[in-house]
Amino acid sequence: MVRKPTPDDKFSFGLWTVGWNAQDQFGSASRPWLDPVESVHKLAELGASHVTFHDDDVVPFGSSDAERDKILDRFRGALAETGITVEMVTTNTFSHPIFKDGGFTSNDRRVRRYGLRKVIRNVDLAASLGADTFVMWGGREGAEYDSAKDLNAAHDRYAEGIDTVAAYIKDKGYGLRIAIEPKPNEPRGDILLPTVGHALALIAKLEHGDIVGLNPETGHEQMAGLNYTSGIAQALWAEKLFHIDLNGQRSIKYDQDLVFGHGDLFSAFATVDLIENGFPSGGPRYDGPRHFDYKPSRTEDFQGVWDSAAANMSTYLLLKERALAFRADPEVQAALEESGVLELSQPTLAEGETLADLLADRSAYEDLDVDAVAARGFGFVRLNQLALEHALGAR
Ligand code: GCO
Ligand code: MN
Ligand code: MN
Repeated sequence: MVRKPTPDDKFSFGLWTVGWNAQDQFGSASRPWLDPVESVHKLAELGASHVTFHDDDVVPFGSSDAERDKILDRFRGALAETGITVEMVTTNTFSHPIFKDGGFTSNDRRVRRYGLRKVIRNVDLAASLGADTFVMWGGREGAEYDSAKDLNAAHDRYAEGIDTVAAYIKDKGYGLRIAIEPKPNEPRGDILLPTVGHALALIAKLEHGDIVGLNPETGHEQMAGLNYTSGIAQALWAEKLFHIDLNGQRSIKYDQDLVFGHGDLFSAFATVDLIENGFPSGGPRYDGPRHFDYKPSRTEDFQGVWDSAAANMSTYLLLKERALAFRADPEVQAALEESGVLELSQPTLAEGETLADLLADRSAYEDLDVDAVAARGFGFVRLNQLALEHALGAR
């Protein structure tokens, strides 16, 4: 039996996940959109602590100011009744046809100005709800054709948009940080900032990059054939892992948004191991919400929607239990030692040692028995098998 999630687990769901009407490219909706108020109540019952949303998930696009106020009042009521909080807010700059060529990077300047206004309005809402993170997923920022975009100008406009929003957050004194969510493709043929590394490189050039970090999604890195755990590890190392989108993906194909663990399960174990246990020799940790960005499959009715929501949390908790046992096992600690995993945190040059000292150290080069050193076995396979046995609950 899996234990019921508690607030300490910090589980969080996008309202667009459970709420989705299951319309896809090839077929119409198989369920109605869910009322966000109902989702908040149901997620609270299941043990989630937070929700996140796009502006349009709660307030339909084109609502009048009066309608918007009424809807938000009712939504705030549901939060108050359930104790659910909003930890992240994001802006929909991809659904309406006006955004068909992007929000911040559309070739049409009128669209960019409109997109910026929509985002800024939503920053105010995020701050008023006490959110910590403002996610920017630029799903429409990109192109299908190489001739369609001046890519130098596109990066300039992307940076301009993000910096303008970051400067606004600082001016207002809001306690928000921006988290960029990379994705390689879909809906655009190629999306700008396709991976964690690309986004980190853009952030390094921003004027207000100090409050801009990342929101990497499991499936998005895997769609690019990359290792999600490695991606969040580098973001952590760069002190830029502001938020996470957990889900499941089975290899390089369309964005599946499966339940966490329903894609590459062993990779999900490594992800949970890193989040819950940190790096083997210490270092930066992720302490934020465990946020699920998945889609209940189109085959599911409402029972299936809530079963799948619960599945994300129970899979995470199961993997957490296994990951804690993995690290606590003395045999694993010994194997980590033997594999040199713990040796890697030792600086290559000793304290106070200069490059000149290294060059003068004959034991490091001239007298080193390279064949003897090369003969070392690292035992990584045994270590991996220990991880697998823990992941399967065999130890
Ligand atoms: C996707 C994305 C989105 C974003 C969301 C937040 O591939 O559809 O993952 O779900 O996470 O729009 O901005
Ligand atoms: Mn996705
Ligand atoms: Mn996402």
